[in-house]
Amino acid sequence: MIDKKSYVGQLISLKIPTIEFSEAFAPSNIALCKYWGKRNLDLNIPSTPSLSISLGNRGTKVQLSIAPQNSLSINGKCIAQESPVFKRTFDFIELLVPKNIKLSVQSENNIPTAAGLASSASFFAALTISLDKLCSWKVSLQTLSCLARLGSGSACRSLHHGFVKWLSCDDPFQSYGIPMDVQWEELRIGLLIFDDKEKLMPSRQAMLHTQNTSSLYQSWCENSNSDFEIFHNAIEKKNFQALGETAEYNALSLHAVMLSARPAIIYSQPETLKAIIKIHVLRQNGIQVYFTQDAGPNLKLIFLENDLECILEDFPRMEVINPFSRVDNLST
Ligand code: PMV
Repeated sequence: MIDKKSYVGQLISLKIPTIEFSEAFAPSNIALCKYWGKRNLDLNIPSTPSLSISLGNRGTKVQLSIAPQNSLSINGKCIAQESPVFKRTFDFIELLVPKNIKLSVQSENNIPTAAGLASSASFFAALTISLDKLCSWKVSLQTLSCLARLGSGSACRSLHHGFVKWLSCDDPFQSYGIPMDVQWEELRIGLLIFDDKEKLMPSRQAMLHTQNTSSLYQSWCENSNSDFEIFHNAIEKKNFQALGETAEYNALSLHAVMLSARPAIIYSQPETLKAIIKIHVLRQNGIQVYFTQDAGPNLKLIFLENDLECILEDFPRMEVINPFSRVDNLST
């Protein structure tokens, strides 16, 4: 099996930066069909295919400058060298630039960090695009997606806007985000944030624990494979009900498999369950609203523009995102 360094060596050749400063933006993405578990731990190759929607202009901007020593700031706050985020960031950078190059990394999120809102995905995607600009690799988005995947699996989907799929296969060179050519202008995502603190267990640790200890993990994988096909068709045919129902089913199955890990992983809070019940009542009253939930207590509502007013009556603090409002090209 190929190791990380040789893998990177086949994708790019390490280069001294050609400029002093670069910056790039990448959108956050919300998985409708979730990635949870790996077939290759080192290269972040997923056990199952996943499918996400990028959040338009909500995500992360990363600025890089050549500096005398490595430093990292997130939303203006300096991150200590001993912190796991610092280590993870520079372990990734050291894979991609020569060791003697030191960088100042400044990251700004316009979405809550580490609250299951996928900000690590947009961070590693923006960091990869920014490194490409700094070092002039001049490679394809496909290659950048393979590189971003090494920082955080779901980052490979943040290289694109709109719906993005990520296939599960043995060949690490074929595991990257693939944009779907579908614009769904009426689709909205609502963010219900109950808690924006750091999550109790980071997703990379939680997925490994689930994979290693849950007796239900195998059936989660089987269900995920069939959900992926349903999502794919629902998006191509713009069948909103099939999309919403499968998103909810997939998210609840994810949390069920986490509950069956030993010891169990519980991300939901009382507010999460209260909101889920409200969503179900709204549906009984004819409003087509569904939810998905990642590795945190917060919910993302999925609905169409014409139901917005009714949904806001029940969730007045919900932040509404139009994923197709921005079509800027993310290429370098
Ligand atoms: O890419 P990671 O290690 O942050 O894991 C992402 C896990 C989920 O957000 C729960 C699901 C997904 O597909 O994004």
